[in-house]
Amino acid sequence: MFASYQQGDDAGFREVASEVIVSERQKHHGLLADELQRILDAPPTGGERPKQISSLRPLPTSRDDAPLIETFTAQRQLDGQTLRADVRTTLDQIVEEQRRGDVLRAHGLQPSRKLLFVGPPGTGKTSTAEAVAGELGVPFARVQVPAVVSSLLGETARNVSAVFDFCRREHWVLLFDEFDALGKERADEAEHGELKRVVTVFLQLLDEFSGPGIVIAATNHPLMLDEAVWRRFDEVVGFPLPNQKELEKLVRRLFKRVRLSVSVVDVARRLKGMSHAEAEMTVRTAMKLSVLRDGDAVTTADLDAAVRRQETRRATIHNSLASPIGPRGSKTSR
Ligand SMILES: Nc1ncnc2c1ncn2[C@@H]1O[C@H](COP(=O)(O)OP(=O)(O)OP(=O)(O)O)[C@@H](O)[C@H]1O
Ligand SMILES: [Mg+2]
Repeated sequence: MFASYQQGDDAGFREVASEVIVSERQKHHGLLADELQRILDAPPTGGERPKQISSLRPLPTSRDDAPLIETFTAQRQLDGQTLRADVRTTLDQIVEEQRRGDVLRAHGLQPSRKLLFVGPPGTGKTSTAEAVAGELGVPFARVQVPAVVSSLLGETARNVSAVFDFCRREHWVLLFDEFDALGKERADEAEHGELKRVVTVFLQLLDEFSGPGIVIAATNHPLMLDEAVWRRFDEVVGFPLPNQKELEKLVRRLFKRVRLSVSVVDVARRLKGMSHAEAEMTVRTAMKLSVLRDGDAVTTADLDAAVRRQETRRATIHNSLASPIGPRGSKTSR
């Protein structure tokens, strides 16, 4: 098997890999065999992280040479996301407007291209932005907001401007992820003035943005954004926590190739109140527990243990946010 891999003999590699899977199944390692089969069947480009691409033009950088954006080939599509029906409809319409922008422009209309994604952590804002790029078959550029935000007066505005400038001419999906960090409340009065300036510059640039692509800003702190910000976007898309039906869909997708001795409906009930990301993490923990005890299927006990672990994790995060150990005992900004 290793020899075929080294020689790039895909057929040979697959043949031996299939034999390994059969052998694992004979040893009653069903879960492991299913997982290996899933990996073998996945398309070669498949992967959680988008694939980094190089741009023809140099990427914009801050004065100390930190890249202000990362560029990727999107690996996701909207069908892979678990989205509320009305959200999916809105996104389908936005994609259609982009695809048929010429028709709209011929009628004096513009496709929507400034979107605000709002919702709690782990509900799919970042991944759905990538999926929009995937649907449109255009590259995906994610703004490194921490690199953009500078402690030097005037620098943040300059960085935001450099990012918009880079994306002005080509068709990109440009994501200002965790956008609220641009507009973070600061204790310092001088910084507060600078902050207002940054938001004003951002809004001006957004108003002026007439590039062929889409600008998406994502936040899980909607209250930090004032009315003036909301108004500037063509669409505000909400990402709520998943309901029972959506959790069932998510669970079904995750258990496509892994055996489960509980009903999907029951699993989804146990995940109630979690975000998509938490639910996914919990299910994967349950799968790992099952594999490690040599189980044939994920059981209620695996799931309960995984849910408990998730609850502990949540409590730890919650407690550390409630009493952060900042430099002066104050809240840390990031
Ligand atoms: N709606 C969803 N459908 C399918 N998978 C999801 C969804 N939301 C989250 N996930 C899973 O959770 C992971 C993290 O989600 P994502 O980064 O998109 O969340 P987010 O809303 O951007 O969170 P944050 O506010 O913390 O940035 C994704 O990579 C995906 O595996
Ligand atoms: Mg995100």
